[in-house]
Amino acid sequence: MHESCPQAYDRVRPLVWTEAGLEVLDQRLLPQHVKYRLCTTAREVAEAISTMQVRGAPAIGVAAAFGVVLAARQRFRECPDKWRDLIEQDLDCLVQARPTAVNLAWAVARMRRTIPAIEGDPEPVLRAQAQAIQAEDLAANRRMGQLGAEWIGKAKGILTHCNTGSLATAGFGTALGVIRALWQGAVTRKEDLRVYACETRPWLQGARLTLWELAQDGIPATLICDSAAAFLMQQGRVDWVVVGADRIAANGDVANKIGTYQLAVAARHHGVGFMVVAPTSSIDWSLPKGDLIPIEYRSAEELLPPYFQIQGGRIDALNPVFDVTPAALVSVIVTERGAVHQPSSDSMQALRRPPA
Ligand code: MRU
Repeated sequence: MHESCPQAYDRVRPLVWTEAGLEVLDQRLLPQHVKYRLCTTAREVAEAISTMQVRGAPAIGVAAAFGVVLAARQRFRECPDKWRDLIEQDLDCLVQARPTAVNLAWAVARMRRTIPAIEGDPEPVLRAQAQAIQAEDLAANRRMGQLGAEWIGKAKGILTHCNTGSLATAGFGTALGVIRALWQGAVTRKEDLRVYACETRPWLQGARLTLWELAQDGIPATLICDSAAAFLMQQGRVDWVVVGADRIAANGDVANKIGTYQLAVAARHHGVGFMVVAPTSSIDWSLPKGDLIPIEYRSAEELLPPYFQIQGGRIDALNPVFDVTPAALVSVIVTERGAVHQPSSDSMQALRRPPA
């Protein structure tokens, strides 16, 4: 544990900045092992992102921001006159680490905008900017938690997908932040609240990470396999599906962990509410609609059982790790700037500016 925090959900942070570099909690080992790996270069941060040591859109953005700090530190030491040119290759490497979560490119672009005004050693200025990104994400999550919990009101059965908690963000979480706020606010009798966590194949972010986080907070959670979700809705056990987002197009279409789309289809069929919780840093205003969002495909080996992996490529597997839910299936998008009911190109415009 790197800092003393009073709340259970704050006990484990995915990213900790130290003088030596960025400590990245290796989420592939959770919940069995809590192990941090030190990244001292931007390339090591990019590798930590692409290999899923750090994952979750906002956490990836924060990691990339600190990756820029490390790039500047390294290149300034190598060549104080040319560091601005030299870090370009590092910034490209960071942006390319994973394609779907827009927070990655958003964070690197924000760090890049700081560079022209820097004089002398770039590290203090860039470090302050990265820490601001981290702090703003935490504040956004708390605000979204409050807004989302108010929206859901007296919901009892909540189904969530993947991991959107402290591990996926700077802390508290997006969709999981709403669940935390609902639990803390106790509008519902606590004994009536039940969270269903989809296991989220193939990386099991739900089974390994979400259940682990919820257990630390003492929030009642039940694991289900991904394909059980529609059945639970049919049984009337689910009032709301609450998920995060990796990228939201300007019309409100939402890219999120594979399986989110089928949850939205099932939710609509059963009259269940479908809430997306994401900071405005996850909105890509340059994309008018979701079919333009790049979808990451990961290797077949992540899906294939070991027996098939020795078949020498004769058996294949298709492994898209995100899908796009059309805005028409989304009941509400909750951001730190407010909630948009029945998102569309027009209604999403309310999120472009911070409220006065
Ligand atoms: O592949 P992952 O684990 O990075 O996918 C994460 C998700 O899909 C999350 O739902 C999303 O990033 C929102 S996290 C607050």
